[in-house]
Parts: sequence; structure tokens; C-alpha cells
Amino acid sequence: MDTLQSASDDRALLQSEWQFQDASPQGMMLNTLSNELSDGDVSEIISYLPEIEGLEVLELGAGIGRFTTHLAQKARHVTAVDFVDKFIKKNQKSNSCLDNIDYVVDDVMNLKMSPNSADLIFTNWFFMYLDNESTRCLLAKLLYWLSLNGHVFLRESCVHGSGNISLRKATTYYREPNDYEALFNSVTVPTEDKQAVYGFNVIASRPVEIYRKVMNNSNQITWLLQKVRRDASSTLEH
Ligand SMILES: C[S@@+](CC[C@H](N)C(=O)[O-])C[C@H]1O[C@@H](n2cnc3c(N)ncnc32)[C@H](O)[C@@H]1O
Repeated sequence: MDTLQSASDDRALLQSEWQFQDASPQGMMLNTLSNELSDGDVSEIISYLPEIEGLEVLELGAGIGRFTTHLAQKARHVTAVDFVDKFIKKNQKSNSCLDNIDYVVDDVMNLKMSPNSADLIFTNWFFMYLDNESTRCLLAKLLYWLSLNGHVFLRESCVHGSGNISLRKATTYYREPNDYEALFNSVTVPTEDKQAVYGFNVIASRPVEIYRKVMNNSNQITWLLQKVRRDASSTLEH
């Protein structure tokens, strides 16, 4: 079986396992302590974003919308994507008072967006469900979809899981933070000029404080990346 087919089979298994989770903060966080964590977690993560007033936002793995509401209250428009229908339905219900959200039920790897169509691509616990090859492939697509100087935000569980509920058979990739940075740095896409490429600069990276305090977990890591144009021959020092 080729690696693309095997990654696609893995995501189908993952999707079927997510269907078993509740459409609730506990289901999204895979943690029975979600009541103590969710509000603080959401407000901390939102505080790490750049100014989103008036931006076009793409949210990948949006789930029931713990973040969608906050994004859509400020952004010009949000496209919220998740491959579990019941999560998107809950998201839609919670945000029925907001008319600037489009919902897509699909595997993110099937998504087709126009070039330069997003200013911010937001993910919270998403890349940890993709293998390295799929991650590189998606990061390259994000470079096409993002406007120049646009941002990608990621929050991932590094080293180990964050909760006390597990997805039974699906693989989760608990990478080291350095492995993520190597992935960000490994992806560039061509520009119209052979001398230049588009790639990511890491603007900020920090652990999530509330997990450090409440769960004694310093391995919930966030990154803010920016799409930049740079000399094709330049080597990165990150
Ligand atoms: C840990 S939950 C996080 C949900 C939300 N970001 C939050 O923090 O509340 C991961 C979400 O990603 C979705 N997901 C994972 N892989 C996906 C894929 N390849 N395409 C679409 N959705 C995916 C799952 O269905 C689930 O809703």
C-alpha cells in the first residue's frame, strides 16, 4: 500500500474514533477536567493571536467551536472545517447568532481553497493527528492559501497527551517541539521569481500556562508562524 493511501486510511480511522466522542468541551479536550480548564484555555489561546479584526480566518479541526465564536466575533469571516458532522452541527447551533461563518464537513486534506484567500489559519490540536508527510503537504498548501505576511497559529500536545480520555486505535503524533520547528522550516513553495520562495518564519512560541499550572504539563506548545518571501538560496537558522 502506498504511503498516501495509508495516511488516508489512518485519517478514516481517526474520523471514526472522533465520532464516538461527545460534542462537548470534554470530548474536544479528551479530558474529564474540561470544566476547570476550557474557559481559561480558550482565553489564553485567543490572547496569543495577532489582531484579527477584519481578517479572513480559516479554522482547521474546528470541532464544536470552542474557538470559532471568539474568532468570528472579530474577524470579517471564518471558514470552520471539521470532518465530524455532529461537531460542526453543534458549532453551527452555538454560533447561530453570527452570520459570518461558513461550515465545511470534510477531511482537511481534501480542502481546496483559492490562493491568498486567508489572512489567519487557526489550529488547536490538529497537526498532532497528521504524520510528517501529510503535515509537510498541508503546510505547503497553507503557504498558497495564505496572503503574504499572513499567519498560522498552532497549539499541539508535544511529548505526551494532555488529557485522561484516549482515542483508542488512532495514532496521535506527540512530537518534540524541535520536530515541529524542523517541519515548519522544511517547507517552502515557489514564487513567480526563481530567486525567491515563500516559507514560514516562527514569530512566537510558548507553552500554555493554564496546563502548566493546573496539569503540571509544560508540553502544550503554541506557535505563531508568518508567511514570508525570502531568497531561495538563503539557509534558515531556526
Ligand atoms: C482535539 S479536537 C480539537 C477541536 C477544537 N480545535 C478545540 O480545540 O476545541 C480535534 C478536532 O480535529 C478534527 N480533525 C482531526 N483531523 C481532522 C482532519 N483530517 N480533517 C478534519 N477534521 C479533523 C476532529 O474531528 C476534532 O474535532
